[in-house]
Amino acid sequence: MTDELKTLSVPVRLGGGRGYGVEIGAGALAGLGRAARESLPGQARKAAVVSNARVFGLYGERAVASLRGAGFEVSHWLMGEGERFKTLRTAERALEFLSESGLERSDAVVALGGGVVGDVAGFAAALYLRGVAFVQAPTTLLAQIDSSVGGKTGVNTRAGKNLVGAFHQPSAVVVDTATLQSLPRRELTAGWCEAVKQGAVGDRRLFERTKRFLTGEARNVSNRRAGASVTETGAGRDEELAQIIAAQCAFKARIVAGDERESLGRDDARSRKILNFGHTVGHALEAVTNYRRFRHGEAVGYGCLAAAEISKRLGLLDPSELESLREAVALAGRLPAAADLDAETIQRALRKDKKAVGGSVRWVLLEGLGRARVVDGREVAARVVRAAIRAALAAPPRTPK
Ligand SMILES: NC(=O)c1ccc[n+]([C@@H]2O[C@H](COP(=O)([O-])OP(=O)(O)OC[C@H]3O[C@@H](n4cnc5c(N)ncnc54)[C@H](O)[C@@H]3O)[C@@H](O)[C@H]2O)c1
Ligand SMILES: [Zn+2]
Repeated sequence: MTDELKTLSVPVRLGGGRGYGVEIGAGALAGLGRAARESLPGQARKAAVVSNARVFGLYGERAVASLRGAGFEVSHWLMGEGERFKTLRTAERALEFLSESGLERSDAVVALGGGVVGDVAGFAAALYLRGVAFVQAPTTLLAQIDSSVGGKTGVNTRAGKNLVGAFHQPSAVVVDTATLQSLPRRELTAGWCEAVKQGAVGDRRLFERTKRFLTGEARNVSNRRAGASVTETGAGRDEELAQIIAAQCAFKARIVAGDERESLGRDDARSRKILNFGHTVGHALEAVTNYRRFRHGEAVGYGCLAAAEISKRLGLLDPSELESLREAVALAGRLPAAADLDAETIQRALRKDKKAVGGSVRWVLLEGLGRARVVDGREVAARVVRAAIRAALAAPPRTPK
């Protein structure tokens, strides 16, 4: 086996000496067993893999072989594919699977898949025997840079998305960047929108770095279209991808370390709340289109632009920085058109967002790229919000020539 893997390692340091590592690299799945073994108590015997048919069909064998190689007795269970299976019913079936597998307190759940699988598997791990360990092996870009790190787990209910859940940190995260090769283009776009968000809201250098990487990607695509033989591919590009994902994870880890449970009292520029940048309008866009038109990350792409448009209108954000953000969102990939959506309907939907506290929306705005500011919704005039939404949705952003 290729245990000579070159992976990057990002530590997540939590309070009380707790923490875990994120291992990142092309082919990292081969080291899944070892990472699980090293992060779990010595008595761990069993690994219960939760995945879905698509992902397991592509990567299940590799994951299972690696876990077996590290001495685990492995069972697996495949949940339905997609957001509509992120339910209490699915979590209950996952719990039945863990019980049938005879999982004990010292054993572990392994989530192999995107954010949906990770959220459900992590939630089941948090509940089963009042909490067993779990290991994340994220296979979508969004899960690799965002959802697999930080310990939020949960399901959707009729009352709304992600309203039922638990904080339950993984014991280890193994990010195999090679799994992104089979990911559909739109899922990549959605993930890159979240990556742009993380840089824009908390770290200007990360923002610029992500933008540079995406510019290189865009150049490669157009070179390939033009039939050029000199495209940057292979090892160098793999390395750059791993590095940008590592930088994104390190950012998320920093925020989580400083505010693990998203304290109610906190809304400063380093609080976990800032990660909701772009999500107020993003969630509303998803809701008004019945979750059919946008991938979550695509809606967040527009949401970031709307929040930045508000910031500009309040005199917080320089127009040139808004323009730079528009370019970055464009580089993330092509977004579905949104110009036909009515700004007032979106505004009504965002008032229902669960992130509202005491009935009012909390806007995460920008004072500059990399500098967030949380503002009470009552301080932002409705007409400003409406104009900002209109401007953000008017036309999908375009990449600079
Ligand atoms: N826990 C958190 O902190 C957190 C943060 C952000 C988002 N989320 C949640 O994450 C979910 C979205 O996750 P997502 O965007 O990963 O979507 P997803 O899990 O639905 O995956 C997207 C699609 O890609 C497929 N897929 C996954 N990996 C693949 C691969 N390597 N190749 C080919 N196809 C593959 C999946 O089967 C699915 O059809 C939402 O439910 C959201 O609420 C959670
Ligand atoms: Zn999101």
